[in-house]
Amino acid sequence: MNVLVETPEELLARARADRLRPGYHFVAPAGWLNDPNGVAQRNGIHHLFYQYNPYGAEHRRIHWGHATSTDLVHWTDRPIALRPDDAGPDQDGCWSGVLVDDGARPVLVYSGNRDGRQSACLAYGDAGMDTWVKEPGNPVIAAPPTGSDVTEFRDHCVWRENGAWRQLISGGLRGLGGCVFLYESDDLISWRELGTLAVGSANDFPPNHPLWTGTTWECGDFFRFTRDGTTAPPDGRSGDPHVLLFSAWHEGRTMHPIAAVGRYRGDRFEIERYQRLDLGGRHAYAPQTYIDGTGRRVLWAWMQEGRSDQEQRAAGWSGAMALPRRLWLDVGGVVRQEPVAEVTMLRAEPLSFVEEGAVVRAAGTQAELELRAELPAGASVHVELFASPDGSERTVLELRARSGGDVDVVLDRSRSSRNDGCDLTPLAGVVTNSTGVIQVRAFLDRSSVEVFIDGIALTARVYPADADATGIRFEPRDGAVVHSVAGWTLHGAEEQERRTQPMQNSMTER
Ligand code: FRU
Repeated sequence: MNVLVETPEELLARARADRLRPGYHFVAPAGWLNDPNGVAQRNGIHHLFYQYNPYGAEHRRIHWGHATSTDLVHWTDRPIALRPDDAGPDQDGCWSGVLVDDGARPVLVYSGNRDGRQSACLAYGDAGMDTWVKEPGNPVIAAPPTGSDVTEFRDHCVWRENGAWRQLISGGLRGLGGCVFLYESDDLISWRELGTLAVGSANDFPPNHPLWTGTTWECGDFFRFTRDGTTAPPDGRSGDPHVLLFSAWHEGRTMHPIAAVGRYRGDRFEIERYQRLDLGGRHAYAPQTYIDGTGRRVLWAWMQEGRSDQEQRAAGWSGAMALPRRLWLDVGGVVRQEPVAEVTMLRAEPLSFVEEGAVVRAAGTQAELELRAELPAGASVHVELFASPDGSERTVLELRARSGGDVDVVLDRSRSSRNDGCDLTPLAGVVTNSTGVIQVRAFLDRSSVEVFIDGIALTARVYPADADATGIRFEPRDGAVVHSVAGWTLHGAEEQERRTQPMQNSMTER
């Protein structure tokens, strides 16, 4: 491995110089970013913590970065919230977790990583959440329940129910599948084991099946949708439909995020339906949600890279957050999502479509496309994104209606980049549709493509080598009728100046 010794300024400069670094998605100042953590809104301010290595673009001795926003689009860096201790249960990293309030102060519940094993740890914050003090009794849960053969054991979901705290820790049972372990506590410090809330079955499908739930679940996130259309923390006595989000993992491989919908009663969650949460799989990994001040269920996810480790290190940055999304439960128990409405504030200039309204020659590297089309059975819409002027580079979205209305979606990345060292595999899935008319929104941001088709997301990373690969082209085929199309260039939300170790008094508005 190439060990790069450089100053924070050099790392920041390298990250900033990379034309493929997203401009309106949240990215770390420089270095490495993975999961969203501790997402919440307090006193009107949205908090986004994240898995962060400020020293280089690699997953090493993870810290918790922190940023805040009043509009979910522009972010202010806050001081690093958690750093690994020199000798402690988190000496090798402060892994994923959540933010709760114990009535007196904010508390982070996270996984300490030491010697390849994780344990549950706590840290207490000041009211402004800029300084954090670790619980002297860490870890508060040192190891998985004894007597079960556990694959992995980490990540936390914590809520109040029935006058007590409940917590899920994600993991897996060898030979069976992924699972979430349930605990209960009166004080967040001493926890009673309540067994497994839910256990998956890794043997139901082969590993390449889109709904394979993996041998381990990471980042379990559990909540409910009430019958009056709102969302709330879990409640085993409510009778409401509950959702467990988790990320399917297998022996070090991040597979895809899944939504499990079912019934929560007592200490068990009976899963009735599994769904791919994002057809882009590992490119929208480790989602975490919260209820914001307006009552929305807002989801954040890690837009994992598709470049080689070496290219990521050389770029000086790695990882971005997908756009914040509002989640809802639709008929048939289908979980749908769309970017939060605030994202429309990024719109700059309308795109002009030429050649019979189907081509944008140079949309720029940050754009949004919105399209409504009627798709009778067998009809399709073909959309080229990030197309280079000579046509040699392009990312192709193909939507084709089956009889019965469902739509097959394929994102063909085989020509996304001349750089064949990056991930060029196709991403695909099915979108249920009963109306015959589909609604598509696509967001392009330098090296990211996020598509929402009738509320089903497909997130991907692409790395055009040609800086002029900014064309958009669409074509209705086999009887498809495009009802409307619109597009905009989008503003960047990027800061003027950032630091890898932001200080309390040097916050910069992004
Ligand atoms: C998911 C994950 C979590 C873990 C964290 C470490 O991407 O592997 O399970 O806590 O990342 O950074």
